[in-house]
Amino acid sequence: MSVTAVVGAQWGDEGKGRIIDFLAQEADVVIRFQGGDNAGHTVINQYGKHALHLIPSGIFNPVTENVIGSGCVVNPQALLNEMESLAAANVSLDNLWISTRAQMLMPYHRTLDELEEAARGKDTIGTTKRGIGPAYADKATRSGLRMGDLLQPAWLKSRLENALRTVNRKIDVLGGEPVNAEELTVLCQEYARALGSRIIDTVPMTRAAVEQGRAILLEGQLGVMRDLDWGIYPYVTSSNPTASYATAGAGLPARALDRVIGVVKAYSTAVGDGPFPVELFDEDGEKLREVGSEFGATTGRPRRCGWFDGVAIGYAAWLNGMTGLAITKLDVLDKFDSIKICVGYRLENGTVVKDSMPDTPVLANASPVLEEWPGWGVSTADCRAWDDLPKPARAYIHRLAELAGVKVDYVSVGAEREQMFAV
Ligand code: GDP
Ligand code: IMO
Ligand code: MG
Repeated sequence: MSVTAVVGAQWGDEGKGRIIDFLAQEADVVIRFQGGDNAGHTVINQYGKHALHLIPSGIFNPVTENVIGSGCVVNPQALLNEMESLAAANVSLDNLWISTRAQMLMPYHRTLDELEEAARGKDTIGTTKRGIGPAYADKATRSGLRMGDLLQPAWLKSRLENALRTVNRKIDVLGGEPVNAEELTVLCQEYARALGSRIIDTVPMTRAAVEQGRAILLEGQLGVMRDLDWGIYPYVTSSNPTASYATAGAGLPARALDRVIGVVKAYSTAVGDGPFPVELFDEDGEKLREVGSEFGATTGRPRRCGWFDGVAIGYAAWLNGMTGLAITKLDVLDKFDSIKICVGYRLENGTVVKDSMPDTPVLANASPVLEEWPGWGVSTADCRAWDDLPKPARAYIHRLAELAGVKVDYVSVGAEREQMFAV
């Protein structure tokens, strides 16, 4: 039996998509277990460069089953756009499935996301405005529609009428235009025609895969620092990217999980608001953004950049129960003479914290305690094995693993599929 969760260990955009694409060459099933089209998972391979939002990153292996799990919120229009762009690149979509139990993200969720962000004034969260928060809120208040509802027109109609009773009141209070039930019904009929054959009860498929010991990857979105419970609340997403939710959102028993790979950049980035103690406002931060092309794959926003955060990785490793690390973007550090690592947070009262994650208001006033490491001054882009790496790069990676308390399974030194190796 081999079920592996691949999760973000920082603030998102760690390179989960490319790790899944690499591992999916040997996988039978890939399941996205949470999030929606707020995700941007970049994959570069023989099909070109694709930023995947909803479709699992195993889609490039034509024999792998790719499942959008019940823990996700699915904007059917965004999914159709993504399918069109992949089909244009000759990527097979024959094995793409959507759980009947996944929530359906409606156009009014995007409207509400925009209106709610505007209503927050200066206290924004910096959401991707993809409607994620409002869609998960409707799931929790039980007024959400599910993808399976598209297969049951009468049920869908009554669910929609039920949802709009409160949705239109909320939109009105926030100063937006009410939405029309008939127009949305027509839209849903189009979605049902375009996606109906892919919307299935996924449990028989995933159950058979687990029972037959097939290789299953559970693909997370974002990272632990934006987890609804364990991240920098309220500057978080509205679902749980940590591995503990992977089996729930994918529809597998918890004890099916064998491995947890934490994907981690060799430095730190974040998009959106909230405390980010390692953030750099100097030329090193600018250099990380430029060399690492640190601009959001979904919104194009410049990412906030900083040194590697050793406190966050220790926290992420423990919470996720990581069995191994996949360290990405090592090559971005090639041209730095000296590299820093955050090994503690100095709080406002002078205390230094190393082994726990302070809560948001405390973290907001924390500054990083840094240690300095020598750079290696040569390109790592062509390294294809641990022994190819320059000695200072190996020492740096050893230090990251030590702070995580977890061994390194993979290292990537460029965005292309082959620029990565197992350790
Ligand atoms: P995800 O959301 O976790 O899948 O990550 P994103 O795709 O949003 O961001 C990662 C970015 O880094 C993408 O542009 C990738 O193409 C790129 N990338 C991934 N791994 C590497 C690497 O090892 N080196 C370099 N230079 N770029 C990488
Ligand atoms: P991937 O999967 C980076 C951030 C937003 C904001 C917060 C809440 O590509 O790593 P939301 O739209 O989810 O309500 O926004 O989370 N965010 C991401 N940051 N990568 C992502 O996805 C993100 N998805 C959401 O910037 O701070
Ligand atoms: Mg991303």
